[in-house]
Amino acid sequence: MQQEKIVKMFDEIAPSYDLVNRIVSFGSDKIWREKAIKETLKYTKNPKVLDVACGSGDMIEVWKKYTNDITGLDASAGMLEVAKKRFPDIKFYHALAQYLPFEDKSFDVISISFGIRNVVEIDKAIEEFKRVLKKEGILLILEFTKPDKKTALRNAIDFYSNKILPKIGGIISKNQEAYEYLPNSINNFYTLNELSQKLKGFEIKVARNFNLSPTSMIIAKKI
Ligand SMILES: C[S@@+](CC[C@H](N)C(=O)[O-])C[C@H]1O[C@@H](n2cnc3c(N)ncnc32)[C@H](O)[C@@H]1O
Repeated sequence: MQQEKIVKMFDEIAPSYDLVNRIVSFGSDKIWREKAIKETLKYTKNPKVLDVACGSGDMIEVWKKYTNDITGLDASAGMLEVAKKRFPDIKFYHALAQYLPFEDKSFDVISISFGIRNVVEIDKAIEEFKRVLKKEGILLILEFTKPDKKTALRNAIDFYSNKILPKIGGIISKNQEAYEYLPNSINNFYTLNELSQKLKGFEIKVARNFNLSPTSMIIAKKI
């Protein structure tokens, strides 16, 4: 799918995005975010953070517990509108991950949660992350990844993602296409291992799946 079409879809579902997220993930996305940020803080203290593809600001909500220096960036004006209302004190940028509007070596941490799968030129975005991170800066990725092998559990998760989630998401957001895009985009995305290998110029510190979930976490240090 083209980048503009993906961004337009997020513009359309922005008002109901948070509600659908909580319902379809049974609230577990909050637990993954908290765990991922706590683990990232083992590698850096009091970081200056850029949250790329910040959406409505769910990651920023957790970052705020640990640092005061947070910047958000997203390609969708609709998602940013929701984020700005939630966090009037945070500075937000309307831009693409592939073209970050920041000087070299500006941030200690870049986080991107459930965003990198939507970035069409992923290699360009990774180059940009490397450019704007400071020396030994940390990249945190949370993302749904494709399984290495299909287990009974993964089949059950896929059934939920392919058949049930688009219906619930479609009813609440009135945009079923957007919630059909989600399972398709996961099936067309990388495995955890493949995604880790794309991080050229980074040393992988953590690369793992969360139990009972298709969610993966990667923590990588700029080298
Ligand atoms: C599934 S949402 C995730 C939002 C948020 N990070 C979260 O964890 O809830 C994906 C977000 O990625 C944004 N996005 C998609 N492609 C992008 C790109 N190329 N650059 C920046 N943001 C992008 C969308 O606008 C959307 O807000």
